[in-house]
Amino acid sequence: MRILVTGGAGFIGSHFVRQLTTGAYPEYDDAEVIVLDRFTYAGNEANLAPVAGSSRLRVVRGDICDTAVVDTVMPGTDLVVHFAAESHVDRSIAGAAEFVRTNVQGTHTLLQAAADHGASRFVHVSTDEVYGSIEHGSWPEDHPLRPNSLYAASKASSDLVALAFHRTHDLPVCVTRCSNNYGPYQNPEKAIPLFVTNLLTGHPVPLYGDGRNVRDWLHVDDHCRALALVAAEGTPGEIYNIGGGTELTNRDLVSRLLELLDAGPEMVEQVADRKAHDRRYSVDCTKIRTELGYAPRVPFEQGLADTVRWYADHRDWWEPLRPQPAGGAGSLTEVSC
Ligand SMILES: NC(=O)c1ccc[n+]([C@@H]2O[C@H](COP(=O)([O-])OP(=O)(O)OC[C@H]3O[C@@H](n4cnc5c(N)ncnc54)[C@H](O)[C@@H]3O)[C@@H](O)[C@H]2O)c1
Repeated sequence: MRILVTGGAGFIGSHFVRQLTTGAYPEYDDAEVIVLDRFTYAGNEANLAPVAGSSRLRVVRGDICDTAVVDTVMPGTDLVVHFAAESHVDRSIAGAAEFVRTNVQGTHTLLQAAADHGASRFVHVSTDEVYGSIEHGSWPEDHPLRPNSLYAASKASSDLVALAFHRTHDLPVCVTRCSNNYGPYQNPEKAIPLFVTNLLTGHPVPLYGDGRNVRDWLHVDDHCRALALVAAEGTPGEIYNIGGGTELTNRDLVSRLLELLDAGPEMVEQVADRKAHDRRYSVDCTKIRTELGYAPRVPFEQGLADTVRWYADHRDWWEPLRPQPAGGAGSLTEVSC
């Protein structure tokens, strides 16, 4: 069996590859794994270093929008797990062309090649942000899509293209929509690693607006386990929400991090709110729980403490990735969650 993992050098994709090549998903123990990654600022060879010696792993540096590259790696592929994307909301506010190119056009290029070469499963990794924002209750999978950010709009577009490939060409596509992930190897432009690395370097933690925006946090290991399950047992043409971690306001999240890092409230700096900042995300995970028997396993308190410890122990990994404090895209006061 051959598995093509796009974006396998990023945060979640590399976790999936590290797990896949070290026996965490026994149904794929014999699989050959090909990573296709463009190595943008978010792709990092160090994320795959722990499994670089695996005889089952091949890494191809290439763009999912490049038909020639995709047509080279796709023949013989049984399963595609598609992570590659531009993923940072704040960057999509600054300019969204790359989001539309990679997230929509790149996904289309992969789907077309998967259909042409007869792939037997395509897992399209998407986000709860496609639903928009919800004050009360949770979204089921058939809820209308009302994305607000340009990141979410590009992901929603790619979800629709993926599902249309199932209906039009009978490609066995599953779409997953997951809540906010946290864990090791996440780029320090994203909320938790930004907050943690700011505190570890004596900088204040920037908090958008009133800090009462709510996110559902799921450990990356729980997300990847759900993806392996959907790949093996999901029904083609179906969408699966993934979440059910811990709902927290950003203010509560910051309080927990201050406690873990022994810092006081003076280390929190309120900053102007993000444009089109969604108030709350919440996915209804009944379907994946009842149909596939999935439940998250990592308790948030333990996962967060382990994550903080990982960043404290891996300065050599994140120090070169820290944005410079001079302002502009990726400055120390920008945050995504
Ligand atoms: N991070 C989250 O909390 C979260 C939650 C739900 C869903 N998702 C989705 O999961 C996927 C992975 O997210 P992540 O946080 O690991 O992202 P990331 O930004 O850490 O990694 C993205 C990877 O894709 C690669 N890439 C970007 N453009 C490419 C292109 N044109 N061709 C080939 N490779 C390219 C990058 O080099 C990088 O390795 C994304 O599709 C995202 O929408 C993320």
